Order: sequence, then C-alpha cells, then structure tokens
Amino acid sequence: MTLSRSAAIRVVAPKVSNEPVGKAHGDSSTIAEISAGLLAPQASVSPKYFYDSLGSKLFEAITELPEYYPTRTEASIFAQHAADMATHTGPGMTLLDLGAGNCAKAASLFPLLQPAHYVPIDISRDFLNGAVERLRDRFPQIEMTPLALDLSGPFALPPEVGAERRQFFYPGSSIGNFTPHEAIRFLRHVRENTGSDGGLLIGVDLVKDHAVLNAAYDDPIGVTGAFNLNMLRHLNHLAGANFDVTLWCHVAFFNAEESRIEMHVEALAAHTVRWSGGEREFSRGERIHTENSYKYTIEGFKALLSEAGFRVDGVWTDAAQWFAVMHARVATE
Ligand code: AVJ
Repeated sequence: MTLSRSAAIRVVAPKVSNEPVGKAHGDSSTIAEISAGLLAPQASVSPKYFYDSLGSKLFEAITELPEYYPTRTEASIFAQHAADMATHTGPGMTLLDLGAGNCAKAASLFPLLQPAHYVPIDISRDFLNGAVERLRDRFPQIEMTPLALDLSGPFALPPEVGAERRQFFYPGSSIGNFTPHEAIRFLRHVRENTGSDGGLLIGVDLVKDHAVLNAAYDDPIGVTGAFNLNMLRHLNHLAGANFDVTLWCHVAFFNAEESRIEMHVEALAAHTVRWSGGEREFSRGERIHTENSYKYTIEGFKALLSEAGFRVDGVWTDAAQWFAVMHARVATE
C-alpha cells in the first residue's frame, strides 16, 4: 500500500532508498506490529524497538550526558533517601524488578532494602540470566528468580514467587513511555499482583522548565539523535526494511498540552521505504513518531496511582524537584 500524493504535481522525482530490502529477522507478530505502525496515517513505531544491542549502549551513553538529568537525579534521590524508603518496604521482602535489564539499579539498593528474594522481570531472558549469575556471587543470601515476562497485558507470577510481601520496583521513569491511560492500566495489573502487605516503589520524571526538558532529549553532540536514528537500523534488521538513515533526522520537543517529550524521525527528502510485506512513500518533512516520555507533577502522578488502586505513602525528590520516587500501597476500602 502506498499513501501517495498526486504524482502529476511532483517536480522532483522521489528518491527511492537504495538500501536493499534484506531478510526480516523479527517474528511474524513483530513484523505485523511494525508494519501497522509504519502504515498508519501518522506513522509510529513503539519505543521498545530502540533497544537492540547498539541501542542499549546508546541509551547508557545518554545517561552520562550532562543534559540528560533523569538517571543521575534519580540516583541522587536513592543515595540520599534509600534508608527511609527501606522503612516503607521493610527487610525480608520479595523485590520484583520491572524491566530489570542489567539489574544494576536494584542491586545497588540491596544493602539497604535487604530483600530475601529478588525477582528481576524483563522481556529478554538471555540478558537477565547473565546479570543474575553475577549477582548470585555477590549476594548469596538473596534468593533469585529471573522471569522472562511480557508486561504489556495482564500478567500472573509463578508460584515460586510467593504471595507475601511483594514490593514492585519500577525506576527510571519508564512509566513515562505509556500514555496516562495506558499507565493506569499497566499499574492496575501491577496492583492485581500486589498483596495487601506489599507495595510499589516507582520513579517518575517531573514537569520542569521546557528548555531543560528539550535539552535532555536533543543534546548538542547528537547521542540522542543517534539513539533515535538507530531505531531505523533495527527496523531494517527486524522487518527487512530498507531505511537509509542518511535520509532521516532526529526531532525531539516538549509538547506542553500533552505534557510529554515527543521524539520523531523526520524525512529529509521524499522517498519510498520498503519492508517485508509493505512499503510507504514518505514526503519531505514527514515524521515517524518513535517515543513519548510523559512528565508529571507530584499531585498528578499521585492521582494516577490512585486511579490504579494505589495510595501513596512516601514521596522523595531532589532539591530542584526535577524527579520523584514514590512508594505506594494497595488502597483498601
Ligand atoms: C528509558 C523511557 C525513561 O524517556 O527519558 C532517553 C528513554 N529517550 N532519551 C526517557 C529516552 C530518549 C527514557 N526512558
């Protein structure tokens, strides 16, 4: 299917990407999801496709940029307040780490939080198993159960997790990738897996000066741009697409109405992109929406947690109030 404008009014023939259409390495549901997004009137691709091996390294590089404040601000909040947070979670609990990745954030809190059981959850089992092997040597007293789980719908935990004293851990403002509506749905699924003696420790990025927000997602040496454009290389691999990254540029801005950073890739020239089972003509200036990163006020995020059935009993922030960590329990009554 092509979404072409009238060919008669075109002055310059559109470029066709000369990258070859390669083999698609993604499974059929992945290719179908990517294809549907690329063919939508406003093309979009889920931010989960940022994270191939290079993308994960570029994200790590982002966290070291002076402009990208969330990671280090959250780390400073943990460094200052983890002992107080531990009084809310209590020693000996089961710590369930949502989107655990390399497990480093949670592991840095083990000495203060003192979990009896650590349950890192991520989509990729290989990555998790390697990280957990290294952690078992450092923390032999903590039982560890890595779980490869898709958290995009309702989820159930296997019996070895145990129903008592579950503390979910969701740092990094990963919740910002969801729309508020989706975030409530996701947090309801978390709440359904949290007993009345459990809780949730969650990091959330806060609304602030727009210049600070814009700089964090559009750094001058182009690391975030590389991270964004790398998605196109990943789509070439997954969907056998022929994106030519030299024909696209990085766009990121704070959308104040929606209270979110939006990232897009924008076509520098009209051209056609093909992939396994589809193609689309992009005009010059046309964009593919690659990420939303919602920013909340403390009150706004408390209200969202309450919609999901949680009641906030602890809020920790940095002096500038750029980032917040909240603890919440299942609301009763
Ligand atoms: C990993 C989703 C929290 O939204 O700030 C960083 C991803 N995108 N720079 C964020 C990201 C561009 C990040 N999260």
